Amino acid sequence: MSESIIVSGATKAEKYQSLLPQLKALIANEDDRIANLANLVAALKHGFNFFWIGIYFVKETKENRRELVLGPFQGPVACTRIAYGKGVCGKSWETKQTIIVDDVDAFPGHIACSSQSKSEIVIPAFNKLGEVELVLDVDSEYLANFDEVDKKYLEEVITIIENL
Ligand code: SME
Repeated sequence: MSESIIVSGATKAEKYQSLLPQLKALIANEDDRIANLANLVAALKHGFNFFWIGIYFVKETKENRRELVLGPFQGPVACTRIAYGKGVCGKSWETKQTIIVDDVDAFPGHIACSSQSKSEIVIPAFNKLGEVELVLDVDSEYLANFDEVDKKYLEEVITIIENL
């Protein structure tokens, strides 16, 4: 396995294009899902120097509710549980849509795990039944850091995750 991920390219799209085959190679010989998710978020974090990136899994609680629970991530410590429909992550789960937030302070109900986070993108991943099984959350310390390019390529990352 290669020890380093090299992101090259002049544009953000080119950087994602250089990274995606490396992500696929990174997980090619391993079938443990958590190990692969951990390496995928690490590669994205170091490839793009995101402030925070991580997975929240949809999990059943002891009270038979479902909520988002923190999984593999890179960055500062984060909130461990998020309720359905709450925050950007819970809203992405509820609407089954990718959500881009240019200014987290302007998003009603945004959950601030860090005051340094200024913009955010959350992408849902689906199981075979079409239910959201997890969300990928990426935070930036810059306003309006995410756009349709991030959406397109991070949704490709989600396809990789859905096939793990
Ligand atoms: N801001 C997210 C919570 C997770 S942290 O950013 C890591 C939200 O509003 O759902």
